[in-house]
Amino acid sequence: MYPDLVVSGMRPTGALHLGHYHGALKNWIKLQTEYPCLFFVADWHALTTHYDDPSKIESSTWEMLIDWLAAGIDPSQSTLFIQSRVPEHAELHLLLSMATPLGWLERVPTYKDQQETLSDRDLATYGFLGYPLLQAADVLIYRASIVPVGDDQVPHVEMTREVARRFNYLYGREKGFEEKALDAVKRLGGKRARLYKELRTQFQEQGDVDALEQAKAMLDDVQNLSMIDRERLFGYLEGSRKLILVEPQAKLTATSKLPGLDGQKMSKSYSNSIGLREEKESLTIKIRTMPTDPARIRRSDIGDPDKCPVWQLHRVYSDSSTQEWVLKGCRTASIGCIECKQPVIDSILKEQDPIRERAQQYLDDPSLVRAIVADGCEKARKLAQDTMRDIREAMGLSYF
Ligand code: TRP
Ligand code: SF4
Repeated sequence: MYPDLVVSGMRPTGALHLGHYHGALKNWIKLQTEYPCLFFVADWHALTTHYDDPSKIESSTWEMLIDWLAAGIDPSQSTLFIQSRVPEHAELHLLLSMATPLGWLERVPTYKDQQETLSDRDLATYGFLGYPLLQAADVLIYRASIVPVGDDQVPHVEMTREVARRFNYLYGREKGFEEKALDAVKRLGGKRARLYKELRTQFQEQGDVDALEQAKAMLDDVQNLSMIDRERLFGYLEGSRKLILVEPQAKLTATSKLPGLDGQKMSKSYSNSIGLREEKESLTIKIRTMPTDPARIRRSDIGDPDKCPVWQLHRVYSDSSTQEWVLKGCRTASIGCIECKQPVIDSILKEQDPIRERAQQYLDDPSLVRAIVADGCEKARKLAQDTMRDIREAMGLSYF
């Protein structure tokens, strides 16, 4: 009933690394050609863990936006904005907080996990507990149907669905809904109206999901139906509720196979990352000094690629003939590790060339980025305000 829309965000952590690129950005770049997309900097989310040192948020925000643009997020296809510039997110977060059980938030796995991982910080805060609810508001405020995230974020999307469902249940009552829905059924015309009622009964009495889908497909096909009637007919199918918020689906980003320099997951906090726009010299040094299979002490020692993080990079960056060359050369000690690393260096540099080039124009003229973001904030805000109007009305808050 609402058209598909993609929403996703990232906390501003400063310059992005190749893990972000292969893990999330490439996916966003593909999605922007398939759906309308909204991508935002989750600067309030950064505050939930770094409330004691907000000084880096500003520079990290702009740096990250440049990285997005440089990587290929196209502002003519995607809307780019900053969360805190759309204060409606906060209003919705507040309203949702009224009816969200504490237990839902406490049982989100990242809550306890992060408190343990970031044990140097006091995260027994109200804001941190509310992290997933703020995230729910980020998505629900656009009635987004698709949320591309990594698997660690799936519980957040699950909770978002529960929040939407609860909201629709609590506030989706419209005065005289039943009568209005029945009038809309009449307006479908005799044959369709009969089919609609039959399918609705089949779904409601026997839980026949196929009947539900068939009815929805039929409604999709009806031409001369007003938006509001369409909405009522959809709501009436599943109960006697109006659908105000949309339950989104997580779209899993295939977990990046790209390891860090030490073979562990690439992460800034492990100091094992390669920047998305790493300088040529420092990239070369980083790869040249990467650890390899510890069994290869001398050039003449044979190695096992499966014990070497460089091989993991080859798996992402090299074609099959280069991969063959590595496997064979390593296992027979016919190539040296420095030699083996060169094609990886070359491929990464080649991948980064257009990224660096695109970044340069934004670095030269930061007002370009500001203009793109100002435009994005304005667009996002309009959408958010539309939803907030419906939400306030549903909650009985539009009396002024
Ligand atoms: N929590 C997400 C992360 O750490 C960032 C985020 C905030 C987000 N709001 C969102 C992602 C809304 C998707 C949708 O990666
Ligand atoms: Fe690793 Fe290549 Fe050296 Fe083998 S030859 S240990 S794969 S760097």
